[in-house]
Amino acid sequence: MKVVIPAAGLGTRFLPATKSQPKEMLPMVDRPIIQYVVEEAVASGADDILIVTGRGKRALEDHFDLSLELADRDDLPELRELDELSRRARIHFVRQREPRGLANAIECARFHTGKEPFGVLLGDTINVCDPPLLRQLWDRYERYHAPVLAVESVPDEKVRDYGIVDGPEVEPGVYRCERLVEKPPLADAPSRLGITGAYVLTPEIYDAIDRTRPDAHGEVQLTDALQLLARDRPVYAATFRGTRYDIGDRYLWLRTNLVFAWNSAELRDRLRPVLETLLEGSRATPSEPRPHRSRRRPKSRSRAER
Ligand code: G1P
Repeated sequence: MKVVIPAAGLGTRFLPATKSQPKEMLPMVDRPIIQYVVEEAVASGADDILIVTGRGKRALEDHFDLSLELADRDDLPELRELDELSRRARIHFVRQREPRGLANAIECARFHTGKEPFGVLLGDTINVCDPPLLRQLWDRYERYHAPVLAVESVPDEKVRDYGIVDGPEVEPGVYRCERLVEKPPLADAPSRLGITGAYVLTPEIYDAIDRTRPDAHGEVQLTDALQLLARDRPVYAATFRGTRYDIGDRYLWLRTNLVFAWNSAELRDRLRPVLETLLEGSRATPSEPRPHRSRRRPKSRSRAER
């Protein structure tokens, strides 16, 4: 299975941490986010992975290079594990020359994927699923021989952050997409089924991307291309078993770090007293001023910015 991982976003929501390193290289406990994504692709059956990068993303290539200079060290099992991952799938890189949206990033894979169907996982989303999410989608693909995208129910206040799909349920948890709308206002949302960013696509997507007009930000949206495709042939959306962790901003990144650290027996024991002390402190002095001023910025609606 070929898998394409778009990882070209500018990471503006993590500045200054992402000024000179890709946000996909931010650590999730002990591994960079991109490593989890590649692990998920390989666990799903990928033997060929294309990572779509952009300017300032060379660290991603370095990360998956074999560590030849450390090859003889048997005291670095984590490195050996990473090398093993890089050997299990051929990992390629291509650059999106201008940040022009998710569909434009996918389009960079056109010659690489050729006439084959392929999986897509976003470089800033970790899925913890059993079986792995792309494997679940691929099983659906083999049944319907049509594009399949992962969806989950999203709360009203999140509708504006997602591609939303609607259509008849053809079997429990599988919908034939009739409408796909990228980040609609709540009032225009056809449902609450949000696209989570994992897809199995077929080569017809490229022609649909060619026919898709850029949005108001000048970006070509994959959701819009899929809407065009869905007019000509079936496109399916499927719910899945497991949990998706979007790492798209500093709060989500921090929260996921906490969850993953809590799930590690060693870290949980050491974190517990720290968290208890923090919680007790906040209960004892509820009106104490915050140590830092909030630097929350509105969520950018553009993938290129992410
Ligand atoms: C992209 C897609 C959107 C999808 C989302 C999931 O948007 O365009 O349809 O719902 O990923 O994270 P982004 O979050 O990159 O702006």
